[in-house]
Amino acid sequence: MTAALLGAGLEGAGVIVSGAAGDIGGATARALAEAGARVCALDLPGDALDAAVASLPGRDDHIALPLDLGNTGTIDAAVRDAADRLGTLWALVHAAAFLRRQAPVDVTEETWDAQLDVNLKATFWLNRVVGELLVARGSGGRIINFTSAAWMTGPMIDSDVYAASKGGVVTMTKGFARRLGPWGITVNAISPGQIETAMQRKENSAEAMAAVAANCPLGRMGSAEEVAAVAVFLASRHASFVSGATINVSGGLLMY
Ligand SMILES: NC(=O)c1ccc[n+]([C@@H]2O[C@H](COP(=O)([O-])OP(=O)(O)OC[C@H]3O[C@@H](n4cnc5c(N)ncnc54)[C@H](O)[C@@H]3O)[C@@H](O)[C@H]2O)c1
Repeated sequence: MTAALLGAGLEGAGVIVSGAAGDIGGATARALAEAGARVCALDLPGDALDAAVASLPGRDDHIALPLDLGNTGTIDAAVRDAADRLGTLWALVHAAAFLRRQAPVDVTEETWDAQLDVNLKATFWLNRVVGELLVARGSGGRIINFTSAAWMTGPMIDSDVYAASKGGVVTMTKGFARRLGPWGITVNAISPGQIETAMQRKENSAEAMAAVAANCPLGRMGSAEEVAAVAVFLASRHASFVSGATINVSGGLLMY
């Protein structure tokens, strides 16, 4: 094994993790902190974000970025300011998202916008500003977005609007991968299958979740930590030639 394969190369790296007060974002923030990264934890303002930052391991100078990603007009300035405070910006892991399960007949302008704004529009604003900051820094970098297995299967259990937003994330990820590649910046999407989190349980039934788990070759849901491990890999030096990819983390529920 060459020396380059021994460490993740994340010691001291500045990493912005959105959804850091949630399950997968939280597990990813912790795993990156354990790998030596300095984390900027982004989520809605509140006790959950404060507690998430306070519990991050590794170092004592992780920072919080309380931000409502639904207000896209505030993203650019807030991220530039956070990157200044963080220093050595290396990666964005964008795990925040909003799911509202509704039959199409019940979808309103409000519920459509709430999901598209956070899941798709904010992804563009975050990718754009982080891309600009990484290009200006000139040391390469990583952007890791989150889609869902629904990008490929289409909506399951009344997630039509959410699934459409996650299809857009895959397409957008490929665009930023092409644009930012010449600066040594990789851009990828993680596509979780059925993961045991608050979002998975939201407006869902135990029976419906059990039925999906039974169809998974591994016969279970995944954990937030199992997804976080893939995010750490993509953020690491080991993933230096992976870009524009949609990484399937579904335990074989989907095969591609
Ligand atoms: N859990 C699954 O089975 C599953 C499946 C496919 C895809 N995903 C994707 O994985 C990612 C993480 O999901 P999770 O299961 O950990 O969800 P979660 O609900 O536990 O966490 C989502 C986080 O996003 C934050 N968030 C929501 N709206 C926000 C806003 N306007 N501004 C800032 N933060 C906001 C929430 O506060 C929360 O902390 C999401 O992108 C989700 O779409 C999850």
